[in-house]
Amino acid sequence: MKKKIVVFPGDGIGPEVVEQAKKVLARVAEKGKIKLEMQEFPIGGASIDIYGVPLKEEYLKEAKKADAVLLGAVGGPKWDVVESSIRPEKALLALREGLKTYANLRPAKPYIALLKASTLKPEVIENVDILVVRELTGGIYFGKPRGIKENKKGYNTLVYSRKEIERIAKRAFEAAMLRKNHVTSVDKANILETSMFWRQIVKEVAVAYPEVRLDHLYVDNCAMQIIRNPAQFDVILTDNMFGDILSDEASMLTGSLGMLPSASVGDKKGLYEPIHGSAPDIAGKGIANPIATIASVAMMFRYSFNRMEFSDMIENAIQKVLDAGFRTKDIDDGTGRLVSTQEMGEEIVKRIE
Ligand code: IPM
Ligand code: MG
Repeated sequence: MKKKIVVFPGDGIGPEVVEQAKKVLARVAEKGKIKLEMQEFPIGGASIDIYGVPLKEEYLKEAKKADAVLLGAVGGPKWDVVESSIRPEKALLALREGLKTYANLRPAKPYIALLKASTLKPEVIENVDILVVRELTGGIYFGKPRGIKENKKGYNTLVYSRKEIERIAKRAFEAAMLRKNHVTSVDKANILETSMFWRQIVKEVAVAYPEVRLDHLYVDNCAMQIIRNPAQFDVILTDNMFGDILSDEASMLTGSLGMLPSASVGDKKGLYEPIHGSAPDIAGKGIANPIATIASVAMMFRYSFNRMEFSDMIENAIQKVLDAGFRTKDIDDGTGRLVSTQEMGEEIVKRIE
């Protein structure tokens, strides 16, 4: 097997966590006799500093040619002042749009060893295993018209086509069939026409998946239920903006944003990144948790390369390291051994077998 991977380390803690993930990739490639070709390019603020734009067209082209893309994180206060059309975050949107990765999969499952790291009671989060399926290339993030007019008003457009809703709904139902056969579609259909349409299309798609139970929740109620009784959920299917918010909320069930990976997939390409941001406040200190990025590599093997055995191998190694008590600062519960970003990466690499 031969694979081309484009790596965008990005800003803040991005390069530190990506470095550890690359070690894991290299180790798995060695084990699995996979020929890896890796190319690395700047993105976000790092790219603005060099080229004046958050993502060069040329690098987007390379990413489109790759079998998979691994990304650290983008953004930071240094670039908060730049004009909105070239903000670091624009690079992410350009990648998602360019690679047509319309489905963002964000699992939230607490590690047993870390039950105490959550701000919620262990008995509330014990059986939590949620997959947020977020629509990623449409909705209010991309809808037109958009803009700020003459310093008098700002506006964005929330729009979804039938095709966009159908394809993301199918993804959610298919994911549910490999899990607990339950989809909760989240919308604001008591007020937004786009949501009424969303709900109608999701019901139509559901007909082809009779074994999957479908419920609908309004987003405000869902936000409350995620804290009240998160174990009731299996797959949460939702639009771009609601998914952005609910996935951050769901991540907190696991204790740390530093633990959670994500996969953004379309019909062909996959983009893998931790769900956390660039965390400029802790960048360069060697204390960031690389687990989310390493777990994103595990998702890459699952969703882009269809090699579950390697995905399991990485996930097992993470599990073992946590069971052995290794903790980065964000998940330090006083019971284990505090390690740096690099040590955490190395401990995981050692346990890949
Ligand atoms: C995320 C992030 C991005 C988003 C930002 C950085 C553009 O919050 O991946 O969830 O809103 O999609
Ligand atoms: Mg977000």
